[in-house]
Amino acid sequence: MSMVAVSKAGNVCTVKINRPDKLNAMNSDVARELISVFEDLDHDDDLRAIILTGEGNKAFSAGADIAYMSKITPDESVTYARLGQKLTATVESVRHPTIAAINGFALGGGCELALSCDIRIAADTARMGQPEVTIGIPPGWGGTQRLMRIVGTANAKELVYRGNMISADEALRIGLVNKVVSPESLLEEAGKMAAQIAANSAMGVRMSKVAIDKGRNADLDTGLSIELLAWRNCFTHDDRKEMMTRFLEKSKK
Ligand code: COA
Repeated sequence: MSMVAVSKAGNVCTVKINRPDKLNAMNSDVARELISVFEDLDHDDDLRAIILTGEGNKAFSAGADIAYMSKITPDESVTYARLGQKLTATVESVRHPTIAAINGFALGGGCELALSCDIRIAADTARMGQPEVTIGIPPGWGGTQRLMRIVGTANAKELVYRGNMISADEALRIGLVNKVVSPESLLEEAGKMAAQIAANSAMGVRMSKVAIDKGRNADLDTGLSIELLAWRNCFTHDDRKEMMTRFLEKSKK
């Protein structure tokens, strides 16, 4: 049985982790399947946005598979963490905009997976956290690096050191999620946001993503040079000409 369900409506794709009996915990099979799905989606030229969520109403994902991790050697742990790091890097670098629709627990690797999306919308029932230290390890799928870049070092350290779960409202307060909605409207709200992004210039959105993501880890000078290249690139594309002409014609009326 496939552990990842993919459905496409128009130019928006929804990817659902499908292991609800284990709260969508990601063993190696789930992680490999997600990587393969996102690699394929990267090549889909028609796509304008991706929504990532979990099956059921309990969990986005309860993280890496603790049953598996309880038995592995240090060398096997490196292979597993490298797989998790590859997963989060693949999701982060897919060229289409990504929205995590967090429908319940997003813990450990589940929180790290959400962190690798561009935007996070949470159901008000969601619970998020990095509980790794409560089972003897640090976050290992990018959490020690991406979390602090999103919520700041002090908030990241508090979440990681305490290993507690926080509510969706607390996640909103520290900037871990962009928006909190009711569980019933989660996919609809994510869909609305995806549709709004999809209506904009794909080239404009993609170049914005490149400039923000590549600039984030660079000094300001380098970041501004990346922005210039991204900007110029859009002037080679039909979108710019068509959309600016449309704007000018509309404002003449
Ligand atoms: N890895 C493997 N299995 C997991 C899992 C994980 N990360 N999280 C949950 N499961 C499994 C449980 O073992 C259980 O399996 P079973 O029915 O075969 O016994 C099933 O999913 C349901 O979980 P359960 O713990 O019974 O649900 P709950 O509602 O009582 O508790 C949580 C929910 C999220 C609080 C609890 O499952 C939990 O703490 N999970 C681990 C979260 C974590 O530490 N993640 C980080 C890993 S690095």
